[in-house]
Amino acid sequence: MQIAVLLSGSGSNLQALLDARAGGELEIDITTVLSDRADAYGLQRALAHGLPAAFVPLPRAAVPGERAAWERRLLGVLNVFDYDLVLLSGFMRVLSAEFLAGCRAPVINQHPALLPDGGGDRVTTRDGMVLPALRGAHVVANALRLGLTVTGCTVHYVTPAVDDGPVLARAEVPIQPGDDEAALHERIKVAERRLLVEVVARLARDGKTTP
Ligand code: GRF
Repeated sequence: MQIAVLLSGSGSNLQALLDARAGGELEIDITTVLSDRADAYGLQRALAHGLPAAFVPLPRAAVPGERAAWERRLLGVLNVFDYDLVLLSGFMRVLSAEFLAGCRAPVINQHPALLPDGGGDRVTTRDGMVLPALRGAHVVANALRLGLTVTGCTVHYVTPAVDDGPVLARAEVPIQPGDDEAALHERIKVAERRLLVEVVARLARDGKTTP
């Protein structure tokens, strides 16, 4: 299975895939790593593994039409490469329906909170606890602010609705007394890396990336 990765940050999840592949756990090829940020450390990780990596700059100014033009550039670079799956791995931009329609394979996303199957505002834990579904960019801080005792992570298919779309897998992470955002996010990321490898292994084994 060939995977194109889009990321904005450190790329520790990309590293987890590369490590699992090196350890014989995953039969995948990462065909490209693209970022909206020049300083995303994930680009360095890609280059260190000899993978094609590119920064596709998003202009800062809110010039009308610029955003759509950037998406077209990003899609143009992405579609130079082969892929059976696009992974948004800490990619901090919302992609439009036009972008998604232009991808030649399904797009999946990693989200650092629990999301429900089939949309909605509530998610039920394995123990039957009903929690608010947290979406957007600040979900780790929001889990703490709301005083939740459990949060987690989700891998899901991407649809034009933000942090929605069919769920591939979820993992729960207990919130500990004294957790701050950084400590909690770090524990969630440990669960995210494990979950991502599991999901990608399943998709590669099934030879099927569609929902
Ligand atoms: C993950 O928590 C992901 O869910 C979030 O950004 C983080 C990416 O981490 N959207 P890394 O760049 O893979 O280390």
